[in-house]
Order: sequence, then structure tokens, then C-alpha cells
Amino acid sequence: MAVAGPGRPHAVGHLGQSLDGRIATANGSSHYVNGSENLDHLHRLRALADAVLVGGGTVALDDPLLTTRRVPGDSPVRVVIDRDRRLPSDRRVFTDRSAPTLVICDTTHAGTKGNGRWPELVGVDGCGDHLPPQAILEALARRSLHAVLVEGGGLTVSRFLRAGRLDRLQLAIAPILIGSGRPSITLPEIAGLSDAMRPQYRTYMMGADILYDCRLTPNGNA
Ligand SMILES: NC(=O)c1ccc[n+]([C@@H]2O[C@H](COP(=O)([O-])OP(=O)(O)OC[C@H]3O[C@@H](n4cnc5c(N)ncnc54)[C@H](OP(=O)(O)O)[C@@H]3O)[C@@H](O)[C@H]2O)c1
Repeated sequence: MAVAGPGRPHAVGHLGQSLDGRIATANGSSHYVNGSENLDHLHRLRALADAVLVGGGTVALDDPLLTTRRVPGDSPVRVVIDRDRRLPSDRRVFTDRSAPTLVICDTTHAGTKGNGRWPELVGVDGCGDHLPPQAILEALARRSLHAVLVEGGGLTVSRFLRAGRLDRLQLAIAPILIGSGRPSITLPEIAGLSDAMRPQYRTYMMGADILYDCRLTPNGNA
């Protein structure tokens, strides 16, 4: 996170997954794929970040607080991607005021009300069925949010990875087999393994989990 600064947003993706590449069961149960050591690490990443970003699926199913309860340090600004503003208003990121919350939505849903609105709506121009990660990071950078933790779920982290907008991807592999459920990284099909991403990485033991800390190049990701 330390390399972030004006003009160069720095994004780190993190997912906790099973040996068979699942981040949750089919009905969205994910508490907890990983052990307490990785949870501490995740909260430390939050404390180092300006913003923690999640997709609407995570807010709908998991109802996370996204604060730094397990470690010292300020909670980051919470950022939720909700393109069409369909999320229910009773989710904790919208009701809990211990940290600010921004909602990234399509410009057409952002409205015109600005200051004082809770949560604050940040409009981004859509591209087909999604909001481009680069435009999301630029919108956050305009609010001085340069170090961004992309905390899930799998669809959201995958979109940032596919767009070449992750500087690091951390995958915490837990020694469990879920067998079905919500996938970790999913990318378009490739013809052969020569097209696979092969990032530089370091590994860290976190209790029973192994954290792969992958360094990605700006566009090639390998
Ligand atoms: N193990 C872990 O590390 C971990 C971490 C976080 C969450 N989880 C679990 O993962 C599950 C949710 O993950 P998920 O992959 O299903 O969903 P998700 O990534 O949380 O949310 C995906 C949704 O967010 C919106 N979205 C994300 N990026 C977007 C973009 N660039 N442009 C427009 N919309 C975008 C889309 O909503 P619309 O389709 O409404 O447009 C998309 O369907 C939950 O069960 C949660 O508990 C696990």
C-alpha cells in the first residue's frame, strides 16, 4: 500500500479461498474460509488502505462492516459497487457511521444531490454491463483515495484483475474443500497454458493458510 500517491492509484486484491478455489458456499456462507491469522492480516490491510472496496454481492449476502476491529488503525472509507442502486438500505455499511461509505453507481443513478448525502453516491460512466475499474479508481483518486483494497467477492476482484488494474493479488488458500459454491478468480477462457498469467509471488504461512502474494504488472498482470 505504501507506494500509492497522487496520480497513481494502488490497488491490492485479496480473496480467501478453499483448496478447490471457492470463496463461499452457493448460498453465500463464507464465515470463515480462513483462520484468525488471515483475518488479522486482512484487517491490517484495511488499516493501511485509504479505501476498501467490495461488490454488491458481498454487501447483499455477507453484510460486512469493513472496519479495522481486530487491529489498531483507522478504518478506511468503505466503497460499494452498486451499479443500479439495488442494494437494500438496511445493510450495515449504510447504517453504521463508524466510517464513511461511498456507493459507486452508474452516472445515470447518481442523481444531483451532493454534499451531506449518506451514503455519498459517486457516478461512473458505464461500459456495457459494468463500470470500468480504471474509472472507479480515478473517481476514488479524485477524492484523495489512492490506496485501495479490493476485498471481494470473486466477481469484483476478477473484474479488476481482467482490466489490469490490480497491482497485487493476495490469495489466502485454506486447507478445506467446499466442492461447490462461489468461485474465486474467473477470467475469460484461454486456449492454452502459455496464455496463463504467471505472476511473481511470495508465500507466507498464516496459521493453517498459505498466502500467495502476487505482484502484477500494470497491464500484462504476469
Ligand atoms: N472469502 C473471501 O475472501 C470473500 C470476500 C468477499 C466476499 N466473499 C463472499 O463472496 C460472495 C460474493 O461474491 P461474488 O463474487 O458473488 O459477488 P461480488 O464480487 O461481491 O459482487 C458482484 C456484483 O458487484 C457488482 N459489481 C462488481 N464489480 C462491478 C463493476 N466493475 N461494474 C459493475 N458492477 C460491478 C455487480 O452487481 P450487479 O450484478 O448488481 O450489477 C456484480 O454482480 C459472498 O458470499 C461473500 O460472502 C468472500
